[in-house]
Amino acid sequence: MEKQVEKAMAIAAAEGRPVRILFVCLGNICRSPAAEGIMRQYCEKLPAAMRPELDSAGFYGGHAGDLPDRRMRNAAFQHGFHLDHRSRVIRPSDFDYFDLIIGMDDRNLSDLYDAAPSVEAEKKIARMSDFCVHYPEAHYIPDPYYDGIDGFHNVLNLLEDGCQHLLTLLYPETDN
Ligand code: 4NP
Repeated sequence: MEKQVEKAMAIAAAEGRPVRILFVCLGNICRSPAAEGIMRQYCEKLPAAMRPELDSAGFYGGHAGDLPDRRMRNAAFQHGFHLDHRSRVIRPSDFDYFDLIIGMDDRNLSDLYDAAPSVEAEKKIARMSDFCVHYPEAHYIPDPYYDGIDGFHNVLNLLEDGCQHLLTLLYPETDN
């Protein structure tokens, strides 16, 4: 996925715009909006012109228009993050628009590969846990929806780790 990040940055640079990153999960009310909010906050330390364009989406539309799940918002607040994304379903055009599309678990990844309209689009798909450094045993970001509050904190710990490393890969020349 280092190569995917490099390619995403190269395409964005060639087009003279910030890189565009989409985080994807099932409901777009727990994991992917948390990843988006964490990454957005990490990127605030970058000069505004360098900041990536961030968004998140899900495959299940049952929560479209909703804020993130209250349990996730509360847990994220305890970790120092404010989440205000409104849930939306992933669109076919997302595969063209975004440079990097990051799924949370096996189901998201297989749904993304099924939905990708081209081989070029497939190459943009990455696995969030592959960015985790401090949790090398993590192979996916578990769905916390039916878990207790510990599950939400676990997801946030994994996402903070992965987003920190993603930031370093995106901007190796800056002091992250
Ligand atoms: P997420 O969690 O994919 O991390 O947003 C879920 C939220 C809602 C549902 C499933 C997963 N749901 O089935 O409603």
